[in-house]
Amino acid sequence: MKLAIDGGSKVFEQGAPVPVWPPVYPETAEKLKELYLGHRWSFYGPLEVEFNERFAEFTGARKSVMMANGTVTLEMALQAMGVGPGDEVIVPAHTWIATGEAVYYRGAVPVVVDVEPDTLCLDPEKLEEAITPKTKCIIPVHLFGSMADMDRIMEIARRHGLRVLEDCAHSHGGFWDGRHTGTIGDVGSFSFQESKILASGEGGACITNDEELAVVMGRISHIGYQYGAKRGEAGGRPPMGEICHNYRVTDFQALILLSQLERLMEDSRLRAKNAEYLRERLNRIPGVRVQAAGRKATLQSYYLFAVMIDHTRLKPGVDLAKVVAALQAEGCPVGKGWGDVMYKQIRWTLTPDMYRIASSAVAEEVVYKRLMVSDLMALMMPQEALDLYVKCFEKVMGEYYAG
Ligand SMILES: Cc1ncc(COP(=O)(O)O)c(C=O)c1O
Repeated sequence: MKLAIDGGSKVFEQGAPVPVWPPVYPETAEKLKELYLGHRWSFYGPLEVEFNERFAEFTGARKSVMMANGTVTLEMALQAMGVGPGDEVIVPAHTWIATGEAVYYRGAVPVVVDVEPDTLCLDPEKLEEAITPKTKCIIPVHLFGSMADMDRIMEIARRHGLRVLEDCAHSHGGFWDGRHTGTIGDVGSFSFQESKILASGEGGACITNDEELAVVMGRISHIGYQYGAKRGEAGGRPPMGEICHNYRVTDFQALILLSQLERLMEDSRLRAKNAEYLRERLNRIPGVRVQAAGRKATLQSYYLFAVMIDHTRLKPGVDLAKVVAALQAEGCPVGKGWGDVMYKQIRWTLTPDMYRIASSAVAEEVVYKRLMVSDLMALMMPQEALDLYVKCFEKVMGEYYAG
């Protein structure tokens, strides 16, 4: 069948019916108006307090601390755990730059460790060789539509006396062996940026079962005010020398997130069901492999749906970019994602003397030769569209894969 990129007809003739994200609800719009008219918008406002309580309850963590975004959550968690100059922190080779840069904001050195070829998350096999006497913390990232192997990572971390900070920016509603991601390590860091599974424009939160860490994270992200303090009731003086920041959020964000939290499980189950359907069908196509879900996922969350191709047996002249272009020409909602491993992303500003690469070969091969992604909304398309999604891969790989 002639490919659309070569002038043939498109699989998605009418375009892919991808829902708009983030969702908006009329009742939330009314509540936002009321909040606006009420003049009180910030500073451990009642909705921020409520969201912290509800998010902690939802994840099963003791405490949640909302902050301005999912980058400063990482930085504040590291600060609260005592990571600073001279320390090393292990980060995966493939993630968003924030995971690595947050380490550097603390004056510490990000140490890059490779990812597993199937889950694309931090590879426990390669973790130990990167640990030095300077290592303080490991940051596994539950990437796209998978989860890092928390059993093995925790075992290694405990054996070496290391802290674990789970980067859960892609993992709202994801459960590993019955526990929500972010509650297995010392702290879980979430982003609520506009494209995320819970999305309030900007925003983030750290969850933890360690009440002392929560108090410190609350204080250092709220310019020294006690965790939960009302405006004008600063509480005691923070310890001298503890640098505190203003990384507060507003009740506007909390209100939007509260409305989404109510629907999170239902939406997560729908995306997981559709992802399983696509995985089963796509993995049958020669040369196509969907990112493996978390090995002990009780419920796998999906921020992106990631698909890899076998680049070694593409026909001459065909590469990843050409496959993606051909799929897009069919109307298939896929793209190249970030397009770079973390330490080469266009906004990565650390020079090579500021970080260390312990291993990265798998991430390099996957990102530059094999990986494409669809947004979470693609997993919310109706059944007929999911079938067309599969058909795009059948058509394009049927033409481009030598087998
Ligand atoms: C894995 C990961 N960690 C951290 C972040 C940072 O979140 P934010 O954009 O809210 O600062 C992101 C954002 O995309 C991310 O993908």
